[in-house]
Amino acid sequence: MLTHPTLANYALFLHNSLMSATADRWSPSSWQSKPAEQQPNYPDPTQLQEVLQQLALLPPLVTSWEVETLKSQLAEAARGQRFLLHGGDCAENFADCRSDAIVNKLKILLQMSLVLVQGGKRRVIRLGRFAGQYAKPRSNDSETRDGLTLPAYRGDMVNSPGFTLEQRTADPQLLLRGYERAGLTLNFIRGLIDGGFADLHHPEYWELGFVRNSPHAAEYMRMVEAIGESLRFMEVLASERLEEINRVDFFASHEGLMLWYEQAQTRQVPRRTGWYNLATHLPWIGNRTRALDGAHVEYFRGIANPIGVKIDTSISPDELLALADRLDPANEPGRLTLIHRFGIDRIEKGLPPLIRAVRRQGRTPLWICDPMHGNTQMTTSGFKTRYFEKILGELEQAWNIHKACGSHLGGIHIELTGENVTECIGGSCGVRAEDLPRAYRTQVDPRLNYEQALEMSLRLARLMGGGK
Ligand code: PEP
Ligand code: CO
Repeated sequence: MLTHPTLANYALFLHNSLMSATADRWSPSSWQSKPAEQQPNYPDPTQLQEVLQQLALLPPLVTSWEVETLKSQLAEAARGQRFLLHGGDCAENFADCRSDAIVNKLKILLQMSLVLVQGGKRRVIRLGRFAGQYAKPRSNDSETRDGLTLPAYRGDMVNSPGFTLEQRTADPQLLLRGYERAGLTLNFIRGLIDGGFADLHHPEYWELGFVRNSPHAAEYMRMVEAIGESLRFMEVLASERLEEINRVDFFASHEGLMLWYEQAQTRQVPRRTGWYNLATHLPWIGNRTRALDGAHVEYFRGIANPIGVKIDTSISPDELLALADRLDPANEPGRLTLIHRFGIDRIEKGLPPLIRAVRRQGRTPLWICDPMHGNTQMTTSGFKTRYFEKILGELEQAWNIHKACGSHLGGIHIELTGENVTECIGGSCGVRAEDLPRAYRTQVDPRLNYEQALEMSLRLARLMGGGK
């Protein structure tokens, strides 16, 4: 029943409205009033502010129209019309900002996407974990060796891996060095793409020499041939080169962990409403920093970019709905990508209730599977590794669970490299536990090597095409 407000409860009503308006007011820096997980401790705040001012003045790395293009492509993926291939290193490091490492990463992503186009009969969005993936969440703030305790290494944008106080002290200058390398990486990628490197007429440009003898080379070459033939056939029919079909884009993404860095490049642009993070196309929130009332969710809710959120068994259906409401109140197409990373033993129980809750609310996020982060384990000799068959197994389960729940898996999120490393065990290239020391190069999580990544895409393509 409605009653006339007395003066006292009218004042209360005004006070509450004012409070919630203030609580709701967002700015690129409003995250600073919330608890922020995983942030380093900068010993000199003045130096940090100086760096942030410089960062904010530098030109953006991406443009708002690219960001909006990606959002509309992700909306298509959520409707089942495209498939998202999201992959790259667990962490980039500054030393790997080299032409061969970048080219090899592009090559494997291009090859995988070609296989997925062929198997899934859908266009593929290529979204790299690159050009800014320089900061990592850590389980502990510090690390102790031989009685000496120092701050944990948090990625090249924060501090250095060497075990001395100097190297482990967070240095704001590294934010600038990271931004510059992200710019160099993107500049090179754009140059390659514009120069025709990704041209579907020339898949030979993407070949990685050392795998010609791989057992998968023949199957891959057959697919490349088939795509080339279809393309030539369509061009004969159309009597012209099909530029639109032929155009291959790459988008950039990273975990939006270092909120100072993200804030510095958050801008308004002419003739558009809202604020854009122009340091990347799609930032995502990691599994450890997605607290509803935390600083990361506060920052992300206000930007116009498409965003991702990692989730696992630690989120309940109700919490997921509250998070989706906070991050995507308008249920905007393409805005929200949910990246589930349960692990092979937990996905069967964990995923269906989340899918059902989201469907009940009429929400239409893009669902993608990260089959890497729930399947990490240690070998007896102390290597952090992942088994290829578990990764594949989780992916297959994800595909089938979505189907059974009336949803669909719209993409994958993987950690890979174009190099011939030995970090994950298995696959037909036969990496065994005892092979790990041979080429174990990651400073953080184990990545699929080139052959394992290609094999994964071939098997996924079979699944997408209705096979096993
Ligand atoms: C990562 O993607 O490297 C990562 C740390 O993942 P998550 O947030 O899912 O643990
Ligand atoms: Co990782």
